[in-house]
Amino acid sequence: MASPVTWERRGRVSVITVNNPPVNALAQPVREGMLRCFNESMADPAVEAIVLTGGGRTFMAGADINEFGKPMREPGLGKVIDGYESSEKPTIAAVHGTPLGGGLEVAMGCQARVAHPKTRLGLPEVKLGLLPGAGGTQRLPRLVGVERALEMITSGDPIPAPLALELGLVDEIAEGDHVAAAIAYAERVLDGQATAGATRARDEKVQGVDEAIFDKAKEKLARVARGREGPLRCVEAVRGSVTLPFDEGITNERRLFVECHDSEESPALIHAFFSERAANKIDDVPKTTPTRPIKSAAVIGAGTMGGGIAMNFANVGIPVRIMDTDRASLARGLGVVRGNYQRAVDRGRMPQAALDARMELIQGVSDMDALAEADIVIEAVFEDMPVKQKVFTALDKVMREGAILATNTSTLDIDAIAATTRRPEEVIGTHFFSPANVMRLLEIVRGSKTSAEVIASAMALARTIRKVGVLVGNCDGFVGNRMFHEYIRQAQFLVERGALPEQVDRAAYTFGWAMGPLAVSDLAGNDVGWYIRKRHIAEGLYKGGGYTGAVADALCEQGRYGQKVGKGWYLYEEGSRRGSPDPEVEEIILRVSREQKVNRRTFDDEEVLARLHGALVNEGSRILEEGFAQRASDIDVIYVNGYGYPAWRGGPMYHAERQGLASIASSIAEFRKDEPALWPESPLLERLAREGGSFKDAN
Ligand code: 3HC
Ligand code: NAI
Repeated sequence: MASPVTWERRGRVSVITVNNPPVNALAQPVREGMLRCFNESMADPAVEAIVLTGGGRTFMAGADINEFGKPMREPGLGKVIDGYESSEKPTIAAVHGTPLGGGLEVAMGCQARVAHPKTRLGLPEVKLGLLPGAGGTQRLPRLVGVERALEMITSGDPIPAPLALELGLVDEIAEGDHVAAAIAYAERVLDGQATAGATRARDEKVQGVDEAIFDKAKEKLARVARGREGPLRCVEAVRGSVTLPFDEGITNERRLFVECHDSEESPALIHAFFSERAANKIDDVPKTTPTRPIKSAAVIGAGTMGGGIAMNFANVGIPVRIMDTDRASLARGLGVVRGNYQRAVDRGRMPQAALDARMELIQGVSDMDALAEADIVIEAVFEDMPVKQKVFTALDKVMREGAILATNTSTLDIDAIAATTRRPEEVIGTHFFSPANVMRLLEIVRGSKTSAEVIASAMALARTIRKVGVLVGNCDGFVGNRMFHEYIRQAQFLVERGALPEQVDRAAYTFGWAMGPLAVSDLAGNDVGWYIRKRHIAEGLYKGGGYTGAVADALCEQGRYGQKVGKGWYLYEEGSRRGSPDPEVEEIILRVSREQKVNRRTFDDEEVLARLHGALVNEGSRILEEGFAQRASDIDVIYVNGYGYPAWRGGPMYHAERQGLASIASSIAEFRKDEPALWPESPLLERLAREGGSFKDAN
């Protein structure tokens, strides 16, 4: 098999090129090829300097993530980098695209770096539960200083080339062809005209560091990366760049890398990484399906969701018109959008000019005719079927041929909405999550008639507006909310039967959820759930029992709608988002329990979690077998990106497999004995538990 790495001589310079599409991951054949080409270049007397580059869209974007968890095959990346770093002949990296992780570590091992102006450089290992394991934690602080290195390594976020130049991470930004520029740079080094760079990072000293910086970094991470160990190990590795000689710092880094690699956190985050990419693949919508360009957009309804949805378009330069029948709502909605941007400006995250440019792209209108020429229209009016159907009947008349007609409904039947148009194949659900300008998830709901082209276009749109698109089927609540409904039902059950809200929420929070289920209800508005419960009662959903909403109903009857009114499951001080337990709520709970003739009992945290997670997994499994999700990992992507589930636990389905499906199924069977209506059977889960199978086999 041809090696993915080749070299050629251009004058006095050897150009070594890595070609391992799509992202030049540093798999074993690449490492071997890089070493071979290096040795051959060193052995060639006509070669006086070496330029290392990547073919295709990027310089190496890191280690090959597929190799983690498997035995390491020589040569290790550290050995390859040592060769380039200690070379007698100058070594220069010509970087473009995304030199990330091991890729940036290779570049830092070279004696200088010349970058294409659009390059983004970073060490994202922490996002995979790892730390830079090929010298990155030792070389980066030597090049850019400890503070910046800590920031880059613990956040994993890349920096743009101009900043990298300013910090000393790259030595030159190429004007034109970056490889030609790197060759010219090498020539200048050979002629003694370039002194910048062309030194070994390992020989640099990390200077004047106040060691308190490490403890401060750890304190901050204890908050922002709560529950995780990887980021703390990153700090320890960087500390070694200050307290230890280079080689010992490398040994320390290796030890910490192995600890990360062997942790539970890393495989879970790697699962999350690959799951996100797998979600892009749709069995009956091949990659070759044409997509429709989206150059203009329209949003109907300027409420909580509409404004945030419009911001997504403006953020990527797509003009968007937002329409509302109520003038006051429109003005308020646009005001909220401006306020959101203004906060970003005030915090220094965005220049004023960007605010002006984005507001320029968002135009408020009060007439539907003004939307006619948009490539996509997203309806975000009240969650009420007749209202939505009326909007779609009108859209069908107004919108140009070929426009995509999308609805942001969170629970309603897409087919019933599509049926009011003469073009149901153009109708699709685009379910954003609140706040729509922040949350990464976009559930894309296919109706029975939605065309493959419209599905492919909606998936492509998700990428354009920097969301994670996941295709789901058309059932009540789709995937995320359908499962969440069961999760909330368990939370309510626990409260009704003996727990208090703070215990339920604390157990979920301690597990790693961003918020507990009842605190989430307070945030979203308890009236929303109340409205849905009433609809479900009217639809006969609880005829067989299993109603757990009595306490939540009692709260709503007293106007305890949540944060927006300062009281819900908790009490909120003026302007605070953090609730505190309210004795009045406890009284309500005890009263309702009495009315329900419940003998309250204690639940330990283990049972609280077993019930909350059991409910999610049971419903997730039912969704899978009914075909409303394509694969279990899609469910994980939905929960991690839309519901505050901790990414470092992989997702509810992944976590369930780690715990063992047999033990989960057996807990559920126990819970079912008391409350069968709360635990509908999932034959899939039971079969997998019995046979020792995996959700992957069910795909
Ligand atoms: N290893 C293996 N496969 C990788 C990969 C990697 N490092 N990076 C990307 N891929 C694969 C993806 O799985 C995807 O495969 P698919 O087409 O079969 O789904 C394909 O490459 C394209 O990836 P994206 O869809 O993500 O392409 P984008 O253009 O949107 O993004 C990217 C490109 C920014 C490079 C992004 O893929 C990315 O962030 N990759 C991960 C980078 C990373 O984490 N590197 C560090 C690895 S750990 C390390 O280096 C350890 C070292 O310190 C020892
Ligand atoms: P909202 O009540 O805040 O806003 C709705 C807006 O639509 C109001 O400004 C109203 O004036 C306008 N409107 C009503 N009828 C209209 C019509 N015929 N034409 C034009 N404008 C009209 O509602 P919200 O919360 O923004 O929800 C909108 C949709 O998004 C609903 O379908 C909801 O289920 C869904 N959704 C809501 C989420 C949330 O957290 N609020 C999350 C995900 C989806």
